[in-house]
Amino acid sequence: MAAAKIARDAQMNKTIYLDNGSTTKVAPEVTKSMIPYFEEEYGNASTIHAKGVNAKQALENSRKIIAKSINALPEEIIFTSGGTESNNFALKGTAFENKEKRHIITTKIEHSSVLNTCKWLESQGFEVTYLSVDKDGFIDLNELKKSIKEKTILFSVIHANNEIGTIQNLEEIGKICKQKKIYFHIDACQSYTKVPIDVKKQNLDLVSLNAHKIHGPKGVGALYIKKATKISSWQHGGSHESHLRAGTENVSAIVGFAKAVQITNSSHIKKMTELRDKLISEVLKIPGTRLNGPQGDKRLCSNTDFSFNAIEGEAIVGFLDEAGIAASTGSACAEKNLDPSHVLKAIGLSHEQANGSLRLTLSRFTTEQEICYAIQTLPEIVKKLRQFSPFGRELKNVL
Ligand SMILES: Cc1ncc(COP(=O)(O)O)c(C=O)c1O
Repeated sequence: MAAAKIARDAQMNKTIYLDNGSTTKVAPEVTKSMIPYFEEEYGNASTIHAKGVNAKQALENSRKIIAKSINALPEEIIFTSGGTESNNFALKGTAFENKEKRHIITTKIEHSSVLNTCKWLESQGFEVTYLSVDKDGFIDLNELKKSIKEKTILFSVIHANNEIGTIQNLEEIGKICKQKKIYFHIDACQSYTKVPIDVKKQNLDLVSLNAHKIHGPKGVGALYIKKATKISSWQHGGSHESHLRAGTENVSAIVGFAKAVQITNSSHIKKMTELRDKLISEVLKIPGTRLNGPQGDKRLCSNTDFSFNAIEGEAIVGFLDEAGIAASTGSACAEKNLDPSHVLKAIGLSHEQANGSLRLTLSRFTTEQEICYAIQTLPEIVKKLRQFSPFGRELKNVL
């Protein structure tokens, strides 16, 4: 009954949104918190009249909320335009400020905002080592230790992978980086508020965050920079953000970001984990299907990613869209790029398996009925597509 109603809603354009890894719906509490900073308290936080002072107060209060959420000091939080800028800032800022060293370590499964920044740094004379990962996307700590050289500046890793949900062990990596005296940067855009981040316990020097993956507005993020980190400013102009990031702060978006952080709670994580596991176990019943990334608590609570033999991920996304379900084949930033995902290749998938991938990502707003509808709809689509595919017809004979 419930699934039938969801199907009707889907036909009436109420999309079942399972693409929360790309972006999320702004929570109503967040929208509400932002409105006064458009309509009344629109002052520039750098001005000294009452409206400026009120904006500055809201800015500093938001900074405190975000700092507290990762056990940092408010002055260690710099607001940015989002995850891409935070990653660029962390990598380029530390590279150029420590340029006598010239070596950076990252992994093969980073978001494009890290990988392409690293490629650019290579063009500027820096040396970059890209660590491999195992079949579930975990780095090898020994490989990390071995790759650290005298001239290494930092290690940068994606905390929870945006495609396959793998959560790296920050405590263990942090110990190595501290012992070897290199900076430790994490891209926490997917993990923030879903996986604990404690900059002190985990020995973190730099943390990239953004708001739009956690029901906050787009175009706002933050970079945690541990006190005394040698980093150069990457955007020049006024003295905003402790002289590290020039430009009038987007106070309304920053207030919304802090609100999004404040309203997260552990019950959301519990619910997403249960629905994720239900989705995984049901989808794996479809013959010729594999789960990409780990199972259990080392997987991000909101992430699922599958490969279906003999069909293309884009075709599944198209048919799901027609059925009222928004999904993706992988990272939103790679969606227009038809090359197989670098993440899936790095975990050892063949070209064909990587092309047959589908990412379904949940949020606190995802309901059990919606997951049931997806579970009901997907096998039909896979079956239909395999009937069209010459490889699919062959597959039918062996399954
Ligand atoms: C892991 C990761 N890092 C960085 C980003 C980029 O963040 P933004 O869209 O805020 O620039 C994203 C968003 O797709 C992401 O998933």
